[in-house]
Amino acid sequence: MKTLVIVAHPNLDQSKVNKTWMNRLQQEDLTIHNLYAQYPEFEIDVEKEQKLLLEYDRIVFQFPFYWYSTPALLKQWQDSVLSYGFAYGSEGNKLHGKELMLVISSGGPSEAYQAGGYNQYTMSELTRPLQATANLCGMHFLPSFLLQGMMNLTDEKLQESAEELVTYVTNPNLRSKR
Ligand SMILES: Cc1cc2nc3c(=O)[nH]c(=O)nc-3n(C[C@H](O)[C@H](O)[C@H](O)COP(=O)(O)O)c2cc1C
Repeated sequence: MKTLVIVAHPNLDQSKVNKTWMNRLQQEDLTIHNLYAQYPEFEIDVEKEQKLLLEYDRIVFQFPFYWYSTPALLKQWQDSVLSYGFAYGSEGNKLHGKELMLVISSGGPSEAYQAGGYNQYTMSELTRPLQATANLCGMHFLPSFLLQGMMNLTDEKLQESAEELVTYVTNPNLRSKR
């Protein structure tokens, strides 16, 4: 199985989590695509991105949660790369059967993301637009990998999560059996 990890962080120099994750994943047999490094001016090469997607079975979006969503460049990437006739529409079947996985860090802790919690909604609810996008593109939406709560994050916990992430991202059997 070939895996493409699309990393979208606007300031990796200042990042703790996403930089650590990216550096660790770089040691594995995966392709890391650092979106902000590639397109600092937001001028996405759509053809190149679409060609790249064709080569992989599992597409991973790795990003920090910004305003309950993705950082802007990853949204821009979706808007331009997942085009009619490529990703959706009567002949837009190029992503059919591929997997989409989200790998997200959030400032708020997991208990804030539940009914009655500080943010009221669960991560499953808040990532619904990406799930719907995967559905429309005929992709299998996998359970997300989350690291939540930056206030209480120790270096040890961060290293642990990086190891868990490697195990998770490289696990070929993540699809739910119905
Ligand atoms: C512009 C911006 C928006 C953010 N929005 C959220 C948010 O909606 N929910 C949340 O839990 N954390 C939010 N955060 C906190 C980030 O998710 C958190 O700092 C990041 O995941 C940590 O990862 P890093 O060390 O790789 O930067 C936001 C941070 C920034 C800078």
